[in-house]
Amino acid sequence: MTKENKDQIIIRTVSDMQTYARAARLRGESIGLVPTMGALHAGHLSLVRRARAENGKAIVSVFANPMQFDDPGDLARYPATLDADARAAFGAGADAIFAPGEREMYPEGFSTFVDMTGISDRLCGASRPSHFRGVLTVVTKLFGICAPDRAYFGEKDAQQLAIVKKMASELCLNVEIIGCPTVREADGLAMSSRNARLGADERISARCLFRALNEGKAIFESGEADPGVLASHIRSILEAEPRARIDYVGIVDPLTFETAPSVRAGNLIALAVYIGDTRLVDNTKL
Ligand code: PAJ
Repeated sequence: MTKENKDQIIIRTVSDMQTYARAARLRGESIGLVPTMGALHAGHLSLVRRARAENGKAIVSVFANPMQFDDPGDLARYPATLDADARAAFGAGADAIFAPGEREMYPEGFSTFVDMTGISDRLCGASRPSHFRGVLTVVTKLFGICAPDRAYFGEKDAQQLAIVKKMASELCLNVEIIGCPTVREADGLAMSSRNARLGADERISARCLFRALNEGKAIFESGEADPGVLASHIRSILEAEPRARIDYVGIVDPLTFETAPSVRAGNLIALAVYIGDTRLVDNTKL
């Protein structure tokens, strides 16, 4: 363990983290966990502040989970900035950072996985097979290691939030999953660790996601309830941006991620769009 100051600590091993969590629980303190892959920005920090406010101890995990990356290049380009992340997380009120190495999480011979059928095969699951299996496996491990009472996830990754909620409920993991609103840049772009990869022109092009979501919402509010017609309007807004390449446009139920024959209030518009080589996701509730 590395001591930052009296109460703030960076923990590197599973057994140290379990000891820390057990001691907190014995003292009667509740634990709030914010799982992240690092490269922390204001979106992550809003989750940390909420965990800080609602629990005796706030733990932030920083682990770029290789199991959920389908493209090794994407993992290799993922920013590793632990010093800055620790400073930012402690600044937002974290008590402990859990930053294990890959071998600590996946020792030689590791062969247990958590998987889900149905919802996890749609949208992001269809474009990135085995992505959600990687997410569910690492999140289950993090719950086992940090023993949280509450865990905080962003609505920006709405499908991930829905899947983690379903898993925690179906496997009786005894942790409350809390969804937190998407934090955006001034021009509406959802904050993401991937935004740093955008060149200056691409950064401007990336505004098309927020624009498409807002225009989709306006078209729905003006009475359009046919999901095909609504999706094609949204597609045409994205296609007007030369640097954008659509991965998917979904108008879906927020629990099942299936498309109903007619769009209803409470449905999500969910997008995944490549800007150059960078894949961005965003969504809005109708
Ligand atoms: P990561 O992309 O680092 O995101 C960590 C958490 O921050 C997720 O719950 C994500 O939804 C949330 N988040 C990201 N951008 C946000 C924004 N602009 N506003 C609000 N919340 C935001 O998601 C993952 O890591 C991983 O899949 C993980 C759950 C850690 C498992 O490896």
